[in-house]
Amino acid sequence: MDKASAIRKAGKINSEALVETIRRFRDFKTEKDISGFLNKQIKKRKAKLAFPTIIASGKNAFELHHKPTRSKIKKGFLLFDFGANVGGWCSDFSRTFFVGAPSKKEKQLYKIVRTAQERCIRMLKSGIITSNIDHAGVIGLGKYSPTLKHAIGHGVGRKVHDKPAIYSRACDVLKAGDVIAIEPGIYIKNKLGIRIEDTVLIKKNGHEVLTKFPKKLICLK
Ligand code: GLY
Ligand code: MN
Repeated sequence: MDKASAIRKAGKINSEALVETIRRFRDFKTEKDISGFLNKQIKKRKAKLAFPTIIASGKNAFELHHKPTRSKIKKGFLLFDFGANVGGWCSDFSRTFFVGAPSKKEKQLYKIVRTAQERCIRMLKSGIITSNIDHAGVIGLGKYSPTLKHAIGHGVGRKVHDKPAIYSRACDVLKAGDVIAIEPGIYIKNKLGIRIEDTVLIKKNGHEVLTKFPKKLICLK
């Protein structure tokens, strides 16, 4: 299978696995319960994990590669970051949900991340210099942009972090056939982490999002 088809399939598996996990949400008490179920959903679909699944409740999401724990899922943001690997090709996908009812401020923070992510994705096509994507992310995140301690995105391929590089001083140029992840976030120590990430295929005059899943803030009970 070629790279685009494999990652498209991996993206579909990500969405299916997440839908199944959310449907069963009431059965889970800890981050580890969730990651265990989610990983099984990926493997059931004959894929491997692209990297260890991150499930991070509340303040745990401040840690970028949080390892799921047995502590109880708390009210607040709940971050999922995972990826399926199909035929040796990776995908990378994050969604942040809310357990309970978000305050106006929490809804606002989520909306900033979502808008920044959509702003970055909108501009994607071959010929774009990757530092321009970072710039769009910085503008989108506004005063929260300094809280983002990782790159706004990265290439995805045989490795989950592959070429091209996407950061403020990067000068890689996107070309058709590249697959990249776009992942802005807002992180507040001892409080929360919000990240929205999609894997996107670059085309000559545009792009195709390979990880299809709604981005409106979904509240879980
Ligand atoms: N989604 C994991 C990472 O980009 O590091
Ligand atoms: Mn990523």
